[in-house]
Amino acid sequence: MTSFETFQQIKSAQIEAALASILPSERIEPKGLHSAMRYSTLNGGKRIRALLVYATGHLFDVKQDILDSIACAIELIHSYSLIHDDLPAMDDDDLRRGKPSCHIIYGEATAILAGDALLTLAFKVITNSNASAEQKVNVIQLLSQAAGSRGMVGGQAIDLNSERKQISITELESMHLHKTGALICACITMVVCMKHDSSHSDYLHLKHYAGCIGLAFQVQDDILDETSSTAALGKTQGKDKHANKATYPALLGLKPSKQLTKDLYEDAISHLSHFGERADYLRQIAEFTVSRHA
Ligand code: IPE
Ligand code: IPE
Ligand code: MG
Ligand code: MG
Ligand code: MG
Repeated sequence: MTSFETFQQIKSAQIEAALASILPSERIEPKGLHSAMRYSTLNGGKRIRALLVYATGHLFDVKQDILDSIACAIELIHSYSLIHDDLPAMDDDDLRRGKPSCHIIYGEATAILAGDALLTLAFKVITNSNASAEQKVNVIQLLSQAAGSRGMVGGQAIDLNSERKQISITELESMHLHKTGALICACITMVVCMKHDSSHSDYLHLKHYAGCIGLAFQVQDDILDETSSTAALGKTQGKDKHANKATYPALLGLKPSKQLTKDLYEDAISHLSHFGERADYLRQIAEFTVSRHA
């Protein structure tokens, strides 16, 4: 097994190349829209969701071209969610991945449409993949559930409705599990559903792992919004406090929030013992989730 650093380098290059070839060229009409889609997707995300797809694929020997399709679909939906998240009607952020947000360069209307088109393209990528018809239906079901009003979009709605409100820790956890956890969980379940020979207990352990790191990822995002810098984050630091967002540091304080990420990490890891060394990449992704600085 190659080191995690090598795995990360190889898979990051693989997802960049796959996304670049799937996204319509900016030479094709409507050029502005295609340019906005490429600008917002091929602009240096950490690709943690794609890495989760490949790391789960490593557990079960899923074919690389199918993993590429699943990884592209999730990164396209994630990029769409970020474009919309930055719009003035949502979080109103001018900076994303260290560059002006999509609506700053292309205008709000094109940014909305670029998000719509990335979401739609994600499903096309799955239908065009080399998976069987049954596998495609299963993946589309998981992806649509995770992206929609019972998943990411629902979480975003709760987030916006919770600004300037005191919500309970249970409500906050549910919001984070929806707006961020749902897509992270789908990275894993979409790959597991490719394998008929994965047991129900494999599925339950991985789902538990995914739930923990999905929540931990957003708690860490909340922490970094308070403690990091705009330069390191590539997005405006301190915007949660400014918008009176419901976050873990706001509700619990910084120290208990950091402790929570550690507890979630331990919980996530405990569900991987079952898989032995083959789960090392997943272990390292969990570690990255809670130790990252951006
Ligand atoms: C940012 O996600 C939005 C959240 C769900 C917290 P990432 O931190 O994964 O963003 P990129 O893809 O690396 O830019
Ligand atoms: C966004 O959460 C989660 C999404 C579904 C995009 P945030 O609003 O905290 O993400 P950032 O901090 O802008 O990346
Ligand atoms: Mg937001
Ligand atoms: Mg935001
Ligand atoms: Mg944030």
